[in-house]
Parts: sequence; structure tokens; C-alpha cells
Amino acid sequence: MKIGVYPGSFDPVTEGHMDIIKRSAKMFDKVIVAVARNYSKKPLFTAEERMELIQRSLQGLPNVEVDSFEGLLMDYIHSKDAQVIIKGLRAISDFEYEFQMALMNRKLDSKVETIFMMTSYKYSFLSSSMIKEVASLGGCIAGLVPENIIPDIYRKLKTIR
Ligand code: COA
Repeated sequence: MKIGVYPGSFDPVTEGHMDIIKRSAKMFDKVIVAVARNYSKKPLFTAEERMELIQRSLQGLPNVEVDSFEGLLMDYIHSKDAQVIIKGLRAISDFEYEFQMALMNRKLDSKVETIFMMTSYKYSFLSSSMIKEVASLGGCIAGLVPENIIPDIYRKLKTIR
């Protein structure tokens, strides 16, 4: 069984992430969207909330699972018997950091491949921080995140004001 893991912070999931998830679901028997619990940025949503928002956005994708992980990504990959790390590339600016991570992961286990998928052009400017900034200033985020999670984003931002 070909299993790919798509790791990230997903704070919150955007249409850019959904684009990568939908396209990778066609390439693997199973895709696990793995929410990082211990990443260095201070998240707006808890890991459980981030997982729930992704889960709710996944309608019609039966071979995609949502999970979370802590610690080394490679340990998680091994625990799931996965063979591939899936990453999205939005712009040249992502490349250097992603390249470094991919090489470090290869050093940790050369049997695990990292594949990069180009994010669709219309989402190439997106980031979760930008979504939060625009929404917190009252701007419209329709079309940039899955429609059914938009109220959750505005509601959560209100609680931190
Ligand atoms: N569409 C829209 N936005 C996207 C995107 C896409 N397709 N792909 C990435 N982004 C955005 C994210 O929203 C995020 O935006 P933000 O900074 O505004 O929050 C930004 O790009 C970075 O993505 P992120 O999900 O935070 O991923 P990352 O590339 O920094 O990697 C982990 C995060 C968790 C995968 C990585 O740190 C990791 O593997 N940690 C585990 C520890 C470990 O094993 N370390 C050694 C690995 S070498």
C-alpha cells in the first residue's frame, strides 16, 4: 500500500493545502494529513481544532486521513509505514527551506522520498498567517479557505481580541 504523509501546521487549512491534498489523494492509496503539534509558531487553533477543520473540509476524499504528530517527522513516517513525505511548493522563496528539510529527512532515512507538488497558481500567494491577518482586520477570505470553516476562523479570532 502506497502511503503518503502531508505534514504541516495547518493553522488553519487553506484552499492551497486542499489543492495539494486533493491532487495527492489521486496518487496514493492513502494520504495522511499530519498536523504538527509542537511547531515553533504560536498557533491560533489547538491541534484538535486544526484536525477538525481539516476533517470537515475533506468531503468526498475517502482515502485521506487526518492525524497529528509530535517530535520527529521521520519517526511518525515510520510509525505509519509510510514511504513518501508530500510537501507543497508555492514560490521560489519556499525552496531553500524545503530543500534543507528534505535533505535532512533523507539523511534520517534515505528510503523515504520527499515529493514536492506545485501549488496551483491561484493559491501561490496564500499562507495561513495571511488568512488570519486579513480575517482579523475584517477582510473577506471567501474562496481562500474551505467555505464551511470560514465562520470558525472569524469566531476564533474574536476570542483573542
Ligand atoms: N497553500 C497555502 N499555504 C501553504 C501551502 C499551500 N499549499 N503550503 C504551505 N503553506 C503555508 C502554511 O500555511 C504556513 O503558513 P504560515 O507560516 O503563515 O503559518 C507556511 O506555508 C509554512 O508551512 P508549515 O505547514 O508551517 O510547514 P513547514 O514547511 O514549515 O513544515 C513541519 C512544518 C511540521 C512539517 C516541519 O517543521 C516538521 O517536519 N517538523 C517536525 C520536526 C522534524 O522532524 N524536524 C526535522 C525535519 S527536517
